This record gives sequence, structure tokens and C-alpha cells, in this order.
Amino acid sequence: MKTFYERLVRPLLFSLGPETAHHFTIASLSKASQFDPALRALKQFAPPARPKTLFDLNFPNPIGLAAGLDKNGRALPAWAALGFGFIEIGTITAMAQPGNLKPRIFRLPEQQALINRLGFNNDGAEIIAKRLSRLRGSGRWPGVPVGINIGKSRTTPLERATDDYLYSFRLLRDFADYITLNVSSPNTPGLRGLQEPAALSRLLHAIASEAGSVAKPIVVKISPDLSPVELEAILAACEENGVAGIIATNTTLDHSSIPPECDKEGGLSGAPLREKSTALVRSITANSKIPVIASGGIYDAKSAREKIDAGAQLVQLYTGFVYRGPQLLREIVEEL
Ligand SMILES: Cc1cc2nc3c(=O)[nH]c(=O)nc-3n(C[C@H](O)[C@H](O)[C@H](O)COP(=O)(O)O)c2cc1C
Repeated sequence: MKTFYERLVRPLLFSLGPETAHHFTIASLSKASQFDPALRALKQFAPPARPKTLFDLNFPNPIGLAAGLDKNGRALPAWAALGFGFIEIGTITAMAQPGNLKPRIFRLPEQQALINRLGFNNDGAEIIAKRLSRLRGSGRWPGVPVGINIGKSRTTPLERATDDYLYSFRLLRDFADYITLNVSSPNTPGLRGLQEPAALSRLLHAIASEAGSVAKPIVVKISPDLSPVELEAILAACEENGVAGIIATNTTLDHSSIPPECDKEGGLSGAPLREKSTALVRSITANSKIPVIASGGIYDAKSAREKIDAGAQLVQLYTGFVYRGPQLLREIVEEL
């Protein structure tokens, strides 16, 4: 049976272009975040509690909002009211930037997938830090862990990437329960080069040296397109530098699982990414003790269970949430 979201909300959103639908959703949830009655109404979707502790943080349930849906941190209270066990905002870059030319998000409904080449469109670390500060002052800060995902500004050359991450890190760390270093988005030229062991170690070392007395858990988000040798080197660099967790995975550049007539340039997410992403979770948990947050192709209770069975501690949703809506949270929580 179709849910309220699938019957009414999704047809309305899907009658708009993907990016317009996205703006409409964020604007609505941002407005709702300012009104207690609206937040109470959203809470009717919230799933029952399934508490979980990781990085010394308490998660009311293990299902998080993946990075990219609320890049600018505009609707934190609404995501918490909908029942997400944690919220990851970003990717945020040091400088505000417009991202790539439109169109840059494509729906593949038959495949329950999306392709995007947004390229880190975001308001920049300074403006977002001010927004988060206002939210904190308003007393509406959500009662669930908040992760802040940071990446490299497009115009910063790769050799200066560390400075770029450090700039955002310094401005945003006080608002974060954990910080994600995104080194795996396919839409910023050269970014995935930061997954190479020497470059990754430099970045991790710089961030670890900076953290000082109020050290925040550092999480690294990786690509599903890594070879076993590359993965092994990344795990070694993460272990040497005290990384708290790994998010596996970002979107894929491997489009072999979708029909060529649907293909577009960009990162593929949703159901066609599921197996590849789960395989990576399995390899990480087989070869390392670093906790894994699984992201990639979770669109029902079974695909979420698959990630937990592969050894993931927490999961995150993006594309599945676009297709299935808030009911997906309850469906998954009740299965776990
Ligand atoms: C439109 C769109 C934008 C995204 N933007 C970001 C981003 O800014 N930073 C990031 O780390 N991941 C980003 N992602 C990747 C998601 O966080 C997630 O890791 C990926 O889509 C796989 O999960 P899914 O299959 O549930 O969508 C984006 C994904 C989509 C579809």
C-alpha cells in the first residue's frame, strides 16, 4: 500500500524539476523549523526509539540524513522532528560557490536512482557558521547528533586543499558532534585525489593537530569506486591518524548498472549503488576495526538490514528518502 508521501507529496514534488523540488522541500522544512506546531506535526512520522551509542554520542536510532540534502544547514529541527537519529549537513566549502551549470540533478524513477553533478553548491563556511550560531541561540538546536561534512572549494588548487579544509573546520567544529572530511565527491575535479594515502595522511594529520583540547570525532567519507589496494591504503592512513569512523560510500561513477539511454554525467546514487556500496562496507569491517556508517542504495528495510549485517554501525539515507519519504524511517527502524 502506498504511503501518504507516495500518494500525495511525491507526485507533487516530482511534477517539479528535481532542483526546484529540492529547493521547495528545503524552504518548507526551513519554515517548519521555526514553528513548534509545525515541528509537532512532523513528529507524527517519527519512528520508535532504537538507541545506539557511537563515538561516545547517543543516537536515538541508527538512521541518519546523508550529506547533500541539507547542504546549508537550514532545516535541522525539522529533520530531527521527522525522526532522523542524526543529521549530516554539508558539504560545506571554505568559500561560497554556485556549483556546476544546471541542469545537474536527474531522476531515474524506474531505477529508484538519481544522478547529480551539483559540484558543492553551498553558502560557504562563514555564512553557515552564523546560521548555526543563530539556531543555537534560538533554543531550537536538535536533540540528535549533528555531523558537519566539509570539502574543498573548487577554485582552491589541490596542493592547498588542507588550508581550505582547515578554514572550514575552524569555523564549524564547535557546532559539530562529528566532522566528516569528504574526499570522495566525483563532481569537484581532483577531489578524489585526496584519497591517495600521502595526501589523505597530510590532511588527517593537519586536522588532528588542529583539534586541540575539544577533539571532535573525525570521519572520512570514501568513494565506492576504490580498488582493494586503494582501500587498504586508505584504511591504514585512517588508522594511523586516529580516524573515528568511515562513511561508505559516496555516489559512484560506475554507471554500468543502468540502461545507457538513462545515463547522464555525474555521481549515481540509489538502488543501483546498493550492492557495490555494501561490498565496500564488508571489506572495511573485515579488514579494520574503524566503525562504518553505511550510505548507498538504502531504499527499504531489507537494504538497510543488509548494511547492518555487513557490519555497519549506523546508516544514512538520501535517494531512498527522496523516493519513499519519511515513512521509510519507520519501516527501517521497525525491522532493525
Ligand atoms: C543530489 C545529491 C547531492 C549530494 N551531495 C552530497 C554532498 O554535498 N556531500 C556528500 O558527502 N555527499 C553528497 N551526496 C551523496 C549522499 O550523501 C550519499 O552518500 C549517496 O547519495 C549514496 O546514498 P543514497 O544511495 O542513499 O543516495 C549527494 C547525493 C545526491 C543524490
